[in-house]
Amino acid sequence: MAVERTLSIIKPDGVAKNLIGDINRRFESSGLSIIATRMMQLDAREAERFYEVHKERPFYRDLVRYMTSGPVLVQVLEGDDAIALNRDIMGATNPADAAPGTIRADHAESIEQNVVHGSDAADTARREVAFFFDEKQIFSRPAQATRHDDR
Ligand code: CMP
Repeated sequence: MAVERTLSIIKPDGVAKNLIGDINRRFESSGLSIIATRMMQLDAREAERFYEVHKERPFYRDLVRYMTSGPVLVQVLEGDDAIALNRDIMGATNPADAAPGTIRADHAESIEQNVVHGSDAADTARREVAFFFDEKQIFSRPAQATRHDDR
């Protein structure tokens, strides 16, 4: 298993529902470290660029409107197999298909308002991390750091 980095976004609905602590606890207790964090409100141009791959999809305009509707928490998560692990913790994009106990099964309202975003592959993770963070804003976990569960 390789140590990877992945981009996480706690979306406007997740922030509005006061879920930052619950979501971050799930990441840390699963062995992921939060190595960069930033609260911000995306403007339309940023959201359009971030979701450029979806620009021909019928939901693109609504997605941009929703993602700019309030503050988000953008974060870099690091750990063994972080990209797939984060996707397991989030659950399927559509909460109706999300496995029990995942963030989206527990908290998401709909396929659009689905609380969290996570990179889906190594190349998108690199692009998405660089979209929000400079390397000097990212702090890899020290080798001696313990997992939350081990304390
Ligand atoms: P995310 O993982 O951030 O990637 C693209 C986002 O588009 C997705 O989560 C949802 O918020 C949204 N999305 C994906 N599919 C649909 C859909 N069929 N209808 C509405 N929104 C969607």
